[in-house]
Amino acid sequence: MSLPFDGAISAFFESQAPGAIQKAIENGGKKDVLSESYPYEKAMDKDAYEAEIEALQLELVRFQNDVKATGKRVVVVFEGRDAAGKGGTIKRFRENLNPRVARTVALSKPSDREAGEWYFQRYIDHLPTAGEIVLFDRSWYNRAVVEHVFEFCTPAQREKFFAQVTDFEKMLVDEGITLRKLWLNVGRAEQLRRFLKREKDPLKQWKLSWIDVEGLKRWDAYTNAIQETFDRSHTDHAPWTIVRSDDKKRARLAAIRAVLHDLDYTGKGLIAAPDAKICGGPDVWDA
Ligand code: ADP
Ligand code: AMP
Ligand code: MLT
Repeated sequence: MSLPFDGAISAFFESQAPGAIQKAIENGGKKDVLSESYPYEKAMDKDAYEAEIEALQLELVRFQNDVKATGKRVVVVFEGRDAAGKGGTIKRFRENLNPRVARTVALSKPSDREAGEWYFQRYIDHLPTAGEIVLFDRSWYNRAVVEHVFEFCTPAQREKFFAQVTDFEKMLVDEGITLRKLWLNVGRAEQLRRFLKREKDPLKQWKLSWIDVEGLKRWDAYTNAIQETFDRSHTDHAPWTIVRSDDKKRARLAAIRAVLHDLDYTGKGLIAAPDAKICGGPDVWDA
């Protein structure tokens, strides 16, 4: 199979990546964690991770049973830059759950028909009924970030989004839906390292898109759009939880804990608070 985009990721790495990023990858190619500002140098120990993720998955099963028994409706939004680890985290969430109870919604770009609708309309179609957990792999926040960075929407459409999103989420919460918004935060060198890996791996090449390749040059535009998103949509009723995901294992544990920690459900065991060094409000975010 030929490389997608004619090796555009490696080409970017060789000729266009900022020197500091190239160095971080070249010198630190074997390092677990490339980001200087990440609070750990080593990835989490595998055995410790396996034990903790298993315990948390058991808690997720208990939560699922409670959701089904009591008719709760749950929405978890997974956001983050490309290669931040959204897909992998969702996979661990759902690994031992009933696919009819916990389903993933990953919408592609709006069809012509959808583009003519109210922006939130197609997401509303996928909201949970009683006894369901819906995991959004990307969400209505596309308009705030990727659609803005690539000019897929007009500035006026984006303004309208921000004018509506806090009320939209307030309606979900007032309606009794449990809403959690997770932002996976990956560093620039780590993102590029993951793209390079995907480019070489026939099992992962499908994850690369034109958006990823083009997005490499638009890191700062993303940074500004993300910061603005936190400023304008981190509310009391629907706050953001940031999870630094340079170490995928720690990130997955923190993401599950962030969802379960403050929820009540029958049979709930002891759940440690998510690691505050890598998980918290928008102040944890590191561009
Ligand atoms: P992913 O990272 O989800 O695998 P991409 O990186 O290709 O997918 O795209 C990022 C997001 O941008 C996706 O949610 C996709 O639907 C959205 N997107 C891509 N093209 C358009 C477009 N022309 N208009 C609006 N959204 C788009
Ligand atoms: P290009 O590299 O410009 O040919 O675009 C690659 C893909 O992105 C195509 O599928 C285009 O339809 C899509 N695309 C590029 N720019 C826009 C835009 N402003 N609005 C919607 N889609 C776009
Ligand atoms: C991720 O790793 O964040 C998603 O699975 C895919 C992507 O955005 O590249």
